[in-house]
Amino acid sequence: MCGIVGAIAARPVTAILLEGLRRLEYRGYDSAGLAVFDGEEIQRLRRTGKVQMLVDAELQAPLSGSLGIAHTRWATHGKPTENNAHPHMSGEQLAIVHNGIIENFEPLKEELVAEGYHFSSETDTEVIAHLIDRAIHSGADLQQAFLSTVSQLEGAFALGVMHKAFPDQILASRKGSPLVVGVGLGENFIASDQMALLQVTDRFIYLEEGDFVQLEKDKITIWDKNQQLVERPIKVFEHNLSVADKGEFRHFMMKEIYEQPEVVKATLQGRITEDRLLEQAFGNGASELFDQVRQVQIIACGTSYHAGLVAKYWLEDIAGMPCAVEVASEFRYRKTVIADNTLFLTISQSGETADTLAALRAVKDQVLASLTICNVPGSSLVRESDLSLMTNAGPEIGVASTKAFTTQLVALLLLTIALGRRNGLSEQQEAEIIGHLHQLPALLLASVRLDKNVELLAQDFAEKNHALFLGRGALYPVAMEGALKLKEISYIHAEAYPAGELKHGPLALVDKEMPVVTVAPNNALLDKLKANLQEVKARGGELFVFAGIDRIQSEEGLKVEQMPDVPEILAPIVYTIPLQLLSYHAAVLKGTDVDQPRNLAKSVTVE
Ligand code: G6P
Repeated sequence: MCGIVGAIAARPVTAILLEGLRRLEYRGYDSAGLAVFDGEEIQRLRRTGKVQMLVDAELQAPLSGSLGIAHTRWATHGKPTENNAHPHMSGEQLAIVHNGIIENFEPLKEELVAEGYHFSSETDTEVIAHLIDRAIHSGADLQQAFLSTVSQLEGAFALGVMHKAFPDQILASRKGSPLVVGVGLGENFIASDQMALLQVTDRFIYLEEGDFVQLEKDKITIWDKNQQLVERPIKVFEHNLSVADKGEFRHFMMKEIYEQPEVVKATLQGRITEDRLLEQAFGNGASELFDQVRQVQIIACGTSYHAGLVAKYWLEDIAGMPCAVEVASEFRYRKTVIADNTLFLTISQSGETADTLAALRAVKDQVLASLTICNVPGSSLVRESDLSLMTNAGPEIGVASTKAFTTQLVALLLLTIALGRRNGLSEQQEAEIIGHLHQLPALLLASVRLDKNVELLAQDFAEKNHALFLGRGALYPVAMEGALKLKEISYIHAEAYPAGELKHGPLALVDKEMPVVTVAPNNALLDKLKANLQEVKARGGELFVFAGIDRIQSEEGLKVEQMPDVPEILAPIVYTIPLQLLSYHAAVLKGTDVDQPRNLAKSVTVE
């Protein structure tokens, strides 16, 4: 989703801005642009398509200057055209970049048009540029004009503004959309996330909701939502620079699939001993809060929602804890009944998903405590939740989530143990689960090694238009995640069903053109699942089954890929891997844009 970068320095900033945009590409976008003040004029360049097209255009017509803002746009109001791309300007004086949605832009636009302002785009953003301009023309300085404009805006925004007459500053603000300040030496930056600025700094200020910032070369001044001067701490972001590099892999997604055996170690590190969970991992006061929890409400979107669905099986089965799971965009807009002593659990790789954040804000005062399982330290969900457990997967660049999902599952299993302890999970059972978790990296490695076999299977998929995914129990959400992955990156229509539902409808779709993928680990439901497979076979359907060693035999119309034998509790995590590989290879065979699938965004900061 839209990305912002801004820089004020003693040196030229164009290369910093363009590199920043490249690093934000993973968020998803359809056009890009930048504006740089060269000492006399604000020069602007915009292109539809990839950042590389903007880079090529800048090579032809270089922009130079030490003050600039840049943007990747994911279209909401108006098509992805050059005119709609940011930065937007009011006259030649003022340039602005925006991430978010201004809900009241229509009346504001009518007002400005009536006063003679000309709009050159269909965006909601352009009203902000003209509102600031109007305030300056009535005598305000840039700061006053910016503040009075922001107070008129309804909706969500992160903004960066520069003005020709005020060339020593960038003004920025955030409300509902993410924005960080990057702190340099004699130069300062803004960006939608740290990733964009790691080439110039590792020191960041995480802005709070409603904060307003004046960024000068040597000075950062921040006011809070009540317009009081505030000091926000500077935090050092510890990172591994190789994360933004594909290394030997053709796509980030493949790199991230292969990283899973390693990153789950990072999720577990410091959180478990040989046989015990270290509950302090959930933060100060977590143990006392967990004592009082009587049910869990999970809220998330997309892949993170699927992680929540798996957790429901674990929490009810192992921890005896009632659990409800709902997508954030539904939950936030309905009247909900929150039972006493509810732990409100959000799951999010980005920590910035607008609907998930809004759901948290809506019920924060009604719940016992909020906990987020998240991959981005310092993100809004982490800051606004009472407790957080970081998944430590490292930055995930591929839009289709892989390692973020499996590490979420690991974190959810740790939570299951914590809550289970209070509900009859014995020390022996805990030790058994922890023992299994110690085996997990090796099991994931064994699954990743099936890559070549799965690549062969994918050949039967690339030509198909539809696919059905089946699972039972905690493997049903895994089937849902498999179907989502296939849709996201190969654009093949896929649906998941609990295998027992097959005869209630989807069986009507089964023929040889409809591959049926099934995750069938060895568990109490395997025999039931086998019966469901026969139902498909009897109708000429083509089955692709991932199953434990020697549990199901390949035969005509039924291809079995043998998985390592896994403890039942780990099956949802391990069986996710071949489904990720399957969609990856199907997408590569189809020639789609694996890392940045059309129309999708990594961090969905608007509702
Ligand atoms: C987008 C991403 C998905 C992700 C979903 C929820 O759709 O492309 O990969 O699962 O948002 O995002 P979150 O950051 O809250 O996990």
